[in-house]
Amino acid sequence: MIKMFNVTKRYENGIIALDNISVSIDKEEFVFIVGPSGAGKSTLIKLIYREILPTMGQVIINGRNINRFKKKEIPYFRRNIGVIFQDFRLIETKTVFENISFTLEVTETPTKEIKRRVYNVLEMVGLTHKADALPLQLSGGEQQRTAIARAIVNNPSLVVADEPTGNLDPKTSRQIMDIFKEINMRGATVVIASHALDIINEMNKRTIVVENHRIKKDIKKGAVCI
Ligand SMILES: Nc1ncnc2c1ncn2[C@@H]1O[C@H](COP(=O)(O)OP(=O)(O)OP(=O)(O)O)[C@@H](O)[C@H]1O
Ligand SMILES: [Mg+2]
Repeated sequence: MIKMFNVTKRYENGIIALDNISVSIDKEEFVFIVGPSGAGKSTLIKLIYREILPTMGQVIINGRNINRFKKKEIPYFRRNIGVIFQDFRLIETKTVFENISFTLEVTETPTKEIKRRVYNVLEMVGLTHKADALPLQLSGGEQQRTAIARAIVNNPSLVVADEPTGNLDPKTSRQIMDIFKEINMRGATVVIASHALDIINEMNKRTIVVENHRIKKDIKKGAVCI
């Protein structure tokens, strides 16, 4: 599903955020990316959804070199990837329902189908009762669950998240991770950059350790100490 070959990312200011990394993630895998601040985790995540392009090397998603996409191909490519951020990025003037349905409106899905799909994902994240609330009326965990619902409403085959529990307490973080587990069990590949080592160790999933802009360890399953 995701293959990176000898990928280097050098930002305009000369900083090398990733230095010649190669990694392969299979369809339906659940993978954590961990490592110290500044190691290159967010850069790795951004390369996957083509927010940024590598300076050298190839990023292959579903057999296609995404660096070579034509401009008009990018929206279609992104539609198949759900992206979740630490700071949720919800639209403050739209309700929970509208924040999620918005994604489907651009794809010209019929209204009835939009409603069905939005309530489906709201139920999955346990937020049906908050459909009409505005983001500022929600707790941090509820906002993050809304952002997750928005990311998965298109049924993407790949879900990537950058520090999705960074602003949440341990109990809420565990609930969020359970939702990711459920998304993965339903067939999506899940890649999460995270600092929450306690929770990562409990999850017992493949964990890639990025340190000094390189892949230091790739642990198939189980506890990691860094
Ligand atoms: N847009 C940018 N322009 C220049 N340098 C950048 C940019 N984004 C990140 N960097 C640098 O690249 C390196 C890797 O950054 P990155 O954001 O990938 O780290 P990270 O592992 O996600 O860290 P954190 O745990 O703090 O989120 C850092 O040295 C950072 O300062
Ligand atoms: Mg980061």
